[in-house]
Amino acid sequence: MPSPLHGKYIVLGVSGSIACHKAVDLASKLTQEGALVDVVMTEAATNFVTALAFRSITHRPAVTSLFDPQSDAAIEHVATAERADVMVVAPATANTIAKLAYGLADDSVSTTALATQAPIIVCPAMDGHMYENPATQENVQKLKSRGHILAGPAEGPLASGLTGLGRMLEVPEIIGHIKLVLGRDGDMAGRKIVVSAGGTREAIDPVRFISNRSSGKQGHAIAEAARDRGARVSLVTAASSFTAPVGVEVVSVETVAEMRDAALAACKNADVLIMAAAVSDFRAAEPSGQKIKKQGGRNGFALQLTQNPDFLSEVPDGVVKIGFAAETEDLEENARAKLTSKGLDLVAANDVTADGSGFATDTNRVILLGRNGDVEDLGLLTKYEVGSRILDRVSRLLR
Ligand code: CTP
Repeated sequence: MPSPLHGKYIVLGVSGSIACHKAVDLASKLTQEGALVDVVMTEAATNFVTALAFRSITHRPAVTSLFDPQSDAAIEHVATAERADVMVVAPATANTIAKLAYGLADDSVSTTALATQAPIIVCPAMDGHMYENPATQENVQKLKSRGHILAGPAEGPLASGLTGLGRMLEVPEIIGHIKLVLGRDGDMAGRKIVVSAGGTREAIDPVRFISNRSSGKQGHAIAEAARDRGARVSLVTAASSFTAPVGVEVVSVETVAEMRDAALAACKNADVLIMAAAVSDFRAAEPSGQKIKKQGGRNGFALQLTQNPDFLSEVPDGVVKIGFAAETEDLEENARAKLTSKGLDLVAANDVTADGSGFATDTNRVILLGRNGDVEDLGLLTKYEVGSRILDRVSRLLR
């Protein structure tokens, strides 16, 4: 299953900023995911990066001037604007934002933006004072009120030497915005999906905890796949290191009790719960308030554990429930038992010891078991693809 960007026409409008180097990387990443990227640049942008750099990456024309006699693409800019699925202006300088706000069309970026009917994502990049200037703020508001998507800017060190709001978003975040926009009319539009991810942590004392090897990658990939199909996604995650996917509501939790509360709250108005989290089955019966010290003369001590609640049974009726079964033996048998005992609609079973499967990898081997005895072996897939295949089943269950 290809990326949701596969075969999509993306117009990348590049205006003159030091952030232009990120636009080259953006064009490269989009092309790698199968998008057809048409670059339009302002004259100012050519001071920072060449059209040749973009052409070499996208294998498509890159237009710098609407009056370039050498370029057919310059003549076809209206066709480029018309076939676009989305236009991204990155970097968008204060000057380009002003032109877009006023509907000017005196360079290839502003002209294409005026001609296209596709959604436009604007990624500002400028000095902090320029961004905060009331003139720019007024222009930004104008664009937002017309339905343009303002992605960024971020806060951080600026080329001027100042630190402030004005940095262009990083490439993965811009791609997240593109996927969010392209997916908004997908088959999950209007649905709310709750996804849990990561391994919960239960304190033994203030410095030690009980946890497991779950990285949260599978849950995060499912959340992204659901977003890319238009769902409203709530991700309840215990993953310790991650970047929040654009357009996904993230609730960070640590313990099973926190995950339970957050997941059940999110499920109140949800259509689907996908429990990809590896929930700690046990917690310390009496976590110590102070760091437990070594005790002279004793070789060790017994830690009393209490079992955590399995809150799947508390999820309200009417929510489609998908569980995971992480197993090291008797995969199908154990997974089927969980399907029944937990009242699941579908269980995604994976042998966490198999090659390319399990924790912290980018791939997974999953077998889907349904309620009426059906078994679907997905084979080796990326975790995103596993997410997409689970969502195909969700889509059928929702019908
Ligand atoms: N799960 C849950 N609450 C728990 C334990 C697990 O909601 N306290 C969910 C997991 O998120 C997963 C499914 O139940 O979707 C199965 O989890 P797994 O750890 O494979 O199984 P357990 O029920 O813990 O059973 P066992 O450890 O005995 O295999």
